[in-house]
Amino acid sequence: MSSTLRFLMCPPTYYEVDYVINPWMEGNIHKSSQERAQVQWQQLYDILQARATVSLIEPQRGWPDMVFTANAGLVLGDRVVLSRFYHPERQGEEPYFKAWFTSEGYQVFELPKQVPFEGAGDALLDREGRWLWAGYGFRSELDSHAYLAKWLDIEVLSLRLMDERFYHLDTCFCPLTDGYLLYYPPAFDAYSNRLIELRVPAAKRIVVQEADAVNFACNAVNIEHTVILNRASQDLKNALAAAGFEVVETPLTEFLKAGGASKCLTLRVTEPVRAELRAPATLPSRVIHLEGHLLDSGLVNRVLDTIVESGGSFQVLQFNLGEQRQSPSQADVRVMAPDAAVMDEIMAQLIDLGAILPPSEVCDATLETVTLAGVAPDDFYVTTIYPTEVRVNCQWVRVQNQRMDGAIVVRSTPEGTVAECRLLRDLEVGDRVVVGVEGIRTVRKADSQRNSQEFTFMGSGVSSERRVELVVEQIAWELRRIRDQGGKVVVVAGPVVIHTGGGEHLAKLIREGYVQGLLGGNAIAVHDMEQAMMGTSLGVDMQRGVPVRGGHRHHLKVINTIRRCGSIAEAVRQGILTSGVMYECVQRNIPFVLAGSIRDDGPLPDTLMDLIQAQREYSRLVQGANMILMLSSMLHSIGVGNMTPAGVKLVCVDINPAVVTKLADRGSVESIGVVTDVGLFLSLMVQQLDRLNRPYTVA
Ligand code: ARG
Repeated sequence: MSSTLRFLMCPPTYYEVDYVINPWMEGNIHKSSQERAQVQWQQLYDILQARATVSLIEPQRGWPDMVFTANAGLVLGDRVVLSRFYHPERQGEEPYFKAWFTSEGYQVFELPKQVPFEGAGDALLDREGRWLWAGYGFRSELDSHAYLAKWLDIEVLSLRLMDERFYHLDTCFCPLTDGYLLYYPPAFDAYSNRLIELRVPAAKRIVVQEADAVNFACNAVNIEHTVILNRASQDLKNALAAAGFEVVETPLTEFLKAGGASKCLTLRVTEPVRAELRAPATLPSRVIHLEGHLLDSGLVNRVLDTIVESGGSFQVLQFNLGEQRQSPSQADVRVMAPDAAVMDEIMAQLIDLGAILPPSEVCDATLETVTLAGVAPDDFYVTTIYPTEVRVNCQWVRVQNQRMDGAIVVRSTPEGTVAECRLLRDLEVGDRVVVGVEGIRTVRKADSQRNSQEFTFMGSGVSSERRVELVVEQIAWELRRIRDQGGKVVVVAGPVVIHTGGGEHLAKLIREGYVQGLLGGNAIAVHDMEQAMMGTSLGVDMQRGVPVRGGHRHHLKVINTIRRCGSIAEAVRQGILTSGVMYECVQRNIPFVLAGSIRDDGPLPDTLMDLIQAQREYSRLVQGANMILMLSSMLHSIGVGNMTPAGVKLVCVDINPAVVTKLADRGSVESIGVVTDVGLFLSLMVQQLDRLNRPYTVA
């Protein structure tokens, strides 16, 4: 039958599995039967021939995958965008396909050399011609989509492939007549699935199960109401029948060994243009600038990974590697995204990593007014721990009170523009808040990435037991230095400090002037005072390590005693509390803040049960700290971490590695994790400080 519908095929004369460029080829080198391949190819040819015109391109020795003509290029009307194969193994096919299209009178478009695109294997027209579905992630680059949109003048919907078994779009996705779609959703990321669902109504989506997907059921040729494929389960046939499609199965096992089936073996070269549907704007793209120790700090990797993981792609426009160890590098990177929402998402993350949007593109940050107290405008910029600047009237303004998870409020004062971090609940009607991602940059000080000398050799790592002593030496050194320079160390401590016998050591650190503030909950204070007043911690005798009869009531008796006094300080004044952590704080005038929780007994009169007030007091005490020692208290430590800007040294000690990782992993080098028993840690610390304080002797 002759028809206006025409396909291009290539006889499998030189077909072979000769190399491995997809998972299907693995273990199949030279395992396909040439004879059977011939027969299977012929059967497919006959089926198509009965329904359409089939043209042939001459096969070429040495280019075994040339049978897969789907990868020749992408045709729309009289135009073709030629493939730029990702793998060198197939690049030699390009000139043959180009010659064929040229001789057939197509207008040929060729992508730049560095932009891979694998033709109709990765680009499938909606059968109604309304738009082009284009895949990326393995073979084709996202950048190619912008060219397709421009040259073919069609809307391109970019779909990101996630499963290497389905490395071409046509292995897991097949648009059908009447707006139906046959596809395997797990092959795509969540965003792409959403995009598919927005364009194809549920009733038109025919979802394929994995068992069919791996038989290449989606790699089908659709001609009107016929679907030609390798193999389909009864369920899938039923589903297709229900949608009005007849399934024609034709075995293609020999080609599956190279990762292709019926659709791959064919290229539809008649694709009508729907002139009334013109392409909208091209894909969003923008250039970012990076500066700093890009390689040493791993920043380039993180930036490029972030772009790809969020569904975008990039092109490095220039990279100037700093010549010496201390000289910073610079790079310009073009970022492409499938749409504006993904672009914004990527930009927000890149800004947090320290990327700069060139000022030519951006002048001012966008501000929106708060209309409901305590509620930010949608799309407000969420702050990080890093020093941040916003652009107002084309000038960069440093944000004050830097902390995590706030909004940025900008206001003009007689002294000039002021920008500050503000918690959501503190926003007032009329405040101007930064929204979006324009005109914001985070600043990484070069020395926060390297040479903060003594402290960095553990750089943001989590130590193992045998390194604990080394870390303690470092921290002891640092504690002594901060004390001598009149600096500020804040301790965040959980009750485990007392249970593990660390109380006396912490008390000593306070007594000797190494601690300038203490943060914790009700429990640390209760157990510390229980130990001081009754010799037990949660009823356990701290000398002998055994539970004391009636000991479980001890902590309540302590609470009761302190409540009678009215405050911890008053208990000290009355001579009721005479030792321990809380006693030393009172004696030395070291401010402490106890934040309450739902499980608190009592609570102590000093415990703040209003959490907003407690957060406020915590953050006041954290201000200006040079170092924060987090001792076995996950909750209070996380709270403190959120209100602490980058640049403050954080030491997180916990016996649970998961807690340490969580706390130490804030992407800033100044944080250090120590996995160990906190009582042991404190005892080593005190010993080490004593050693530092001994008279100098020549060893
Ligand atoms: N071995 C070929 C490759 O990996 C198979 C191509 C299959 N073609 C397709 N349109 N999915 O490139």
